[in-house]
Amino acid sequence: MDVKHKIQKLTNKINQHNIEYYVHDNPIISDYEYDVLFRKLQQLESDYPDLICIDSPTKRVGSKPLDKFNQVNHRLPLLSLSNAMDSSELELFHTQMIKGLNNNNIEYVGEPKLDGLAVELIYEKGQFVKGSTRGNGYIGEDITENLKTIKAIPLSLHTNYTIPNILEVRGEVFINHYDFEQLNKKRLNNGETPFANPRNCAAGSLRQLDSSVTATRPLRIYCYAPGYIDGVSIQSQSEFLNILPKWGFPVNSEVQIGQGLNFLNSYYKHIESVRDSLKYDIDGVVFKVNSYDLQESLGERSRSPRWAIAAKLKPVQATSLIEDIIPSVGRTGAITPVAKLKPINVGGVIVSNATLHNQDEINKKDIRIGDTVVVQRAGDVIPEIVKVIIKKRKTNSQPYTLPSICPSCNQSISKIPDEVVMRCLNLHCPAQIEGQIKHFVSKNCLDIDGLGEKLVQLLIENNLVLTISDIFTLTHNQLAVLDRLGDKSAKNIINSIDKSKHTTMSRFIHGLGIRNVGAHLSKILESQFNNEINDLISASFDDLISIDEVGDIVANSIIQYFKDSNNIMVINQCFELGVVFEKTMQASNVFSGKTFVITGTLPSLSRQKAKSIIENNGGKVSSSVSKKTNFLLCGENPGSKYNKAQDLNIKIINELQLKELIK
Ligand code: IVH
Repeated sequence: MDVKHKIQKLTNKINQHNIEYYVHDNPIISDYEYDVLFRKLQQLESDYPDLICIDSPTKRVGSKPLDKFNQVNHRLPLLSLSNAMDSSELELFHTQMIKGLNNNNIEYVGEPKLDGLAVELIYEKGQFVKGSTRGNGYIGEDITENLKTIKAIPLSLHTNYTIPNILEVRGEVFINHYDFEQLNKKRLNNGETPFANPRNCAAGSLRQLDSSVTATRPLRIYCYAPGYIDGVSIQSQSEFLNILPKWGFPVNSEVQIGQGLNFLNSYYKHIESVRDSLKYDIDGVVFKVNSYDLQESLGERSRSPRWAIAAKLKPVQATSLIEDIIPSVGRTGAITPVAKLKPINVGGVIVSNATLHNQDEINKKDIRIGDTVVVQRAGDVIPEIVKVIIKKRKTNSQPYTLPSICPSCNQSISKIPDEVVMRCLNLHCPAQIEGQIKHFVSKNCLDIDGLGEKLVQLLIENNLVLTISDIFTLTHNQLAVLDRLGDKSAKNIINSIDKSKHTTMSRFIHGLGIRNVGAHLSKILESQFNNEINDLISASFDDLISIDEVGDIVANSIIQYFKDSNNIMVINQCFELGVVFEKTMQASNVFSGKTFVITGTLPSLSRQKAKSIIENNGGKVSSSVSKKTNFLLCGENPGSKYNKAQDLNIKIINELQLKELIK
C-alpha cells in the first residue's frame, strides 16, 4: 500500500474509533491501542506533511492562539426555552399545544436538558467550517478552533446519509463527572485551582483563546437541534435525531418519543429516577412537538419557541456529616463560614465543602458541627446546606458561633452596621493580602497565566510577595527554586508577568479590589477618567458621585481606598516596575457623543448587555430621559420614559435597530 493510502486508512480508522467512543458510547479498542494508532498516524504525517487528510484526528490538538474571538451572526437565532416549574405548568403547556394545533393527540420528543453550553456547528459541503457560541442568540463568538479539538465533533460528515450543501447543527458541550474529577485531581497535583463544577469547566475551556489548552480538556457534545439546512429535507425532530449519528454526531441515548400528557409526565418521572446514574449533569427535561410542520404552525415568541418547554428538575441533594466549620477570610476581610463535609457524591460530583454564608444563616438553620445535613448542588452555585436532620443530632452538640478573632491574624473581627457579614478590619491581615493578590492576578484582572492560587500561596509563604507590586519584582531564579516549579514553568510565568504589565486601567482598578468596585464600575471609571489613574486618585467625593452609576457608597469606598498612603505607594511601585495602560479596545465609535436611555424588557439583551454594547461603541447610557437624550432604546412594557421621549421628540429604537446601527 502506498503512503497516501496508509495515511487515509489510518485517518478513517481513528475517526471511526472516535465515533464508536463518542457517538455509540461503545469503544472497541483500549485507550492504549488507540494511542498506538494515533502515534503511527502522527509519525507518517510528520514524514509526509503533504499527504495529511483534511479530517485528520491529529488536527484536534489546537492551533495558534487568537488575539480575540470574532463575532458570528447566526443565520437563525438560537432561541432559549420557556420553563415549566411543576407538573401543573407542564399540563398547561400541553393544553396550549392542543389549543394551538386543534388536535389532542400530540406526539412529543423528550430529551434530557444538558447543563453545559450551547454551540452551533456549520458544515458546508460536508466539511466543518465554523462553530460558535450561542452568545445573545443572534450574535455569538467564533470558537471554531476550540471546537475542532473536541473529538466527538466530526470534522467532515460521514457519508451514511445525504450530505447537505449547508448543515447547521446545535448541541450542548459538556464534561462527564468522571472526566471532571480526573481533571481536577490533575490540576490539584499541578498546584492549579480546581474548577468549581463541570459546567464552569466546560465554559472556561470553550472560551480559551489558545485552542491547545482546550484540547487538553475532556469536552464532549450531544447534538439536539437543527439550524439552517440546505440540501436535505427533514420532517421531524425524531427523524433529525436519527440522522445525526449517520453523519457522525453524538445524540443523547435517553431521548424518547411519545404521545400526550401521559408521556410528558412519565418521561419526566423516568429522567428524574435515572438522573443520579447519568454520567453528566442535567437540570431539566426538554419536550418538543415532534413534527417540524406543527412546530412551524405553532411559531415562536421573541425569545423561545411555542412548541417546546423545559421542565425543571430540582437541584440534586444528598446527606452528609459536617466534620468541621472553618471561617474563611476573603480579600475584603469578610468572614465566610465554610462547612467541611464528609466527602459525598451529590448527583455525580464529589462535594466536600459547602458555604454557610454568615452567622445569621447558621442561626436560622441551627447548623452545628457533627450535624447530619442535606446538601444541595445546582448548576453553577456553590453547594449549600438545605437543612439539618435533627433526629440524627448528637445530644452533646452545641450551637455554632463564629469566633470573635480573625483566624488568620488573630485581631478582633467586627460586624459593620447594615451588613450581615463579619469582617476583619486589619488591613495587614495575611489572609486578606493573599486574597487580594490572587484577585489581582486572576483572569478578569491582570490575567497572569500560570500564576494560580497554589503558587500565590507559595510565593507568600516564601516571603517573595507581600503586596501586589511585588509580583513585578519576581525573577526567574526566585521562581525556579520553588517546590514543583521547574525551569520551563518559571520562564513561562515570568513571560506572563511581563506580558501582563501592558494592561488596561479598568483591569488594574478592578484588580486593586476596592470595595464595591467590580469589573463594570472599573470600566466606567476608566472611561470617565480617560485612562488617567492620577485623576481618579485625586477625585473628590463630588466628582465621583457626579458619575452616572456611582453613588455615595461607591464614592466613599474609592475615597477611603486612595486615602491610604500604603495603597498609593503600591500603585506607584507598579508603574515604576513597568505597568502601563493601553486604551480598552472599542468595537467602534459610532455612538460617540450620543446618550441613550433604556426602557422596557428587550427581546434578547439584558440591560447590562445593551449598556455594554452602547458603551463599547462609544456611547453613554443615562437613567432618565432629558433634552440631552439622543435615543430611547425601547423594549416590551416600557415605563413612563417612553411617553417622555415621545413628548421630547427623541428617536425611539428597538433592539434590532440598535444592532443595525453597529453593523
Ligand atoms: S433545544 C429552540 N434541547 O437549553 C430550542 N436545548 O434554554 C432550543 N439545552 O440554550 C434548544 N439541552 O443550551 C434544546 N436537549 C436540548 C437541550 C437544550 C440543553 C439548553 C441549550 C439552550 C437552553 C435553552
